[in-house]
Amino acid sequence: MKKILITGGAGFIGSHVVRRFVNNYPDYQIVNLDKLTYAGNLANLTDVENRPNYRFVKIDITDAQAINELFAEENFDAVVHLAAESHVDRSIVDPTAFVMTNVIGTVNLLNAAREYWKNDYKQKRFYHISTDEVYGALGETGMFTETTAYDPHSPYSASKASSDHFVRAYHDTYGMDCVISNCSNNYGSHHFPEKLIPLAINNIKNNKPVPVYGKGENVRDWLWVEDHARAIDVIFHQAKTGQTYNIGGHNEWKNIDLIHLLCKIMDKKLGRKDGESAQLITFVTDRAGHDLRYAIDSTKLQKELNWVPSLQFEEGLEKTVDWYLANEEWLNNVTSGNYQSYYEKQYKNR
Ligand code: NAD
Ligand code: DAU
Repeated sequence: MKKILITGGAGFIGSHVVRRFVNNYPDYQIVNLDKLTYAGNLANLTDVENRPNYRFVKIDITDAQAINELFAEENFDAVVHLAAESHVDRSIVDPTAFVMTNVIGTVNLLNAAREYWKNDYKQKRFYHISTDEVYGALGETGMFTETTAYDPHSPYSASKASSDHFVRAYHDTYGMDCVISNCSNNYGSHHFPEKLIPLAINNIKNNKPVPVYGKGENVRDWLWVEDHARAIDVIFHQAKTGQTYNIGGHNEWKNIDLIHLLCKIMDKKLGRKDGESAQLITFVTDRAGHDLRYAIDSTKLQKELNWVPSLQFEEGLEKTVDWYLANEEWLNNVTSGNYQSYYEKQYKNR
């Protein structure tokens, strides 16, 4: 029996991690802590919400007292920490929210773990989920490894880099069992449509312009979200204390090529003429400080823990499109209300 706190479990990646742990480990008690911001959605977890080994608590990780009370109430064996403000464009508009949740929120969790686990650090684990964006941007060649120096550029990546440093500091200073993984861009079901792939699917479906920043030359390394959840499972159970693992798809795509592929898939799925959806592509003003290229070298994870991505991108993208087309109600719910004013502000003057 293990009691595991998963933070941010109502979000995109977190909901896949919660589902995996609840289903695969019936003898674990999973507590999902989430503030339910605009990105948190309990509809992502209806299939597991009544399981006896699952509990949801609505807590803001910037609230240290609430976290301490939860640690006092539940005798956690481990934390898998995903809760974060996660969208780069929002961090450009309001960096402070990212400092509060990503830095202060992480430190609040570390402090609670430090206090409540102090007699037992070797039996407990704090696993922090981070991003490849902490490494900055690559030119045309090269890949990020676990020893690449941190060089974040956006307020989002700066806040994630800061939280990574705090996690390492608590390991080095207090001897806590901490592990970190840094992953590339995820895609798949339940992805909030502020991010490129679900935003483009939603706009193509509704015959709206598909905004591509700059010339669409930026490169991202895409990984299916369920492969990320599986990597988290493997690292959580097998990584040695203090280790860091890079997770990535070895799957680099220029944004414009990805969007053309998506348009082709959507033409087929929606019964449109070949090339019809691609007419929606609209080049708009670039993101400030836009990192040119990310690429992850995940050799360490592959060699040490035997993890490899399971899905080809074309297959994964088609599955993702199928999910969005089959889950119209989910998409309509998350794109009504606040999403409209966000979209209006974000894209009006581009
Ligand atoms: P998301 O925005 O979909 O979900 C974040 C979740 O955190 C939401 O459920 C939200 O309600 C919750 N949350 C936000 N602020 C909170 C607070 N103050 N207190 C409690 N809960 C709060 O994000 P995601 O894409 O699922 O990313 C999850 C984690 O993985 C993040 O730490 C992110 O940095 C990291 N990551 C994401 C990607 C990616 O491609 N999406 C890649 C690598 C790493
Ligand atoms: O690399 C991992 C990161 O991937 C995670 O840490 C972040 O949480 C996650 O949001 C993601 O960050 P990106 O900024 O790479 O993802 P996004 O989907 O916002 O953008 C992907 C690329 O597409 C990027 O080069 C910007 C571009 N883009 C994005 C949007 C929203 C567009 O061209 N048009 C758009 O409308």
